[in-house]
Amino acid sequence: MANKESYLGEFENIVLLAVLRLGKNAYGMKIRQEIETRVKRDVSLGALYATLERLEKKTYVQSKTGEPTPQRGGRAKRYFKVSASGIRALQDTKNNLEAMWQGIDFSLSPIHLLIVKGNKLDSRDLLFQSRILTQRMIMTSLLLGMFGMALEISAEPNLENGKRLYKKHCLMCHGLKGEGRFGPNLTDNYWLYGNTTADITKVVTEGVTDNGMVRWGKKLPQAAIDDVVAYVESLKGSNPLNAKAPQGLEYPE
Ligand code: HEC
Repeated sequence: MANKESYLGEFENIVLLAVLRLGKNAYGMKIRQEIETRVKRDVSLGALYATLERLEKKTYVQSKTGEPTPQRGGRAKRYFKVSASGIRALQDTKNNLEAMWQGIDFSLSPIHLLIVKGNKLDSRDLLFQSRILTQRMIMTSLLLGMFGMALEISAEPNLENGKRLYKKHCLMCHGLKGEGRFGPNLTDNYWLYGNTTADITKVVTEGVTDNGMVRWGKKLPQAAIDDVVAYVESLKGSNPLNAKAPQGLEYPE
């Protein structure tokens, strides 16, 4: 559970994403432009800086002053960057929103939703509900759109990307086909830490550093971990040559 402090307000969320998107180029005017072009709303520099200050106090962004440039009459720009805890707060906020959205289907009209909820039909209610729904739809699609671009997160894990990541990061210890080398065989029914997607995601994220398994959560974003876990799961039962002897308990599916 995320602690209360890590919840982001709507504008904070947008500002953090804009800083993340801009990378090394994140200074006041640019951040404002990024938000204005993507979210199509006017942003005052005052409100933007107040939010950046607040985010910096919460340690979600860090700032540093660049070299003074002649174009600006010798004034130096202040550059912002999202910190690791900022990334976590973004991820928490996104997960929370997604969890709350789960199962809500916009092919249902507001009338259906009211019936589903067992509310009495009242025209003012309807108007109100549909206004709120529209606002939420717009907000969420904006946020998810920005996230998708910034972190390349997609709902479905990407097996091709998982395979690429596996070859890059996992092959040396678990073998080209998952047959196991220094690390265990990942294709059999024997698992040290369990065989569900959640179990595998956990061990990959947290690692077992004492035994030589890297803590990938420190090195790869969540979407990359999801992809590589999906790839590992696709290797189940593939019976590669030179398979390493089983380790752990047998999980007969
Ligand atoms: C430096 C070597 C090394 C690398 C690189 C490595 N692992 Fe591991 N991995 C291990 C070792 C060793 C273990 C067993 C830990 C133990 O015995 O507690 C392990 C365990 C695991 C397990 C748990 C297996 C079980 O039986 O429960 C999974 C899943 C796993 N690794 C996936 C990965 C993935 C995915 C990658 C790449 C992103 C990766 N590993 C990269 C060494 C490595």
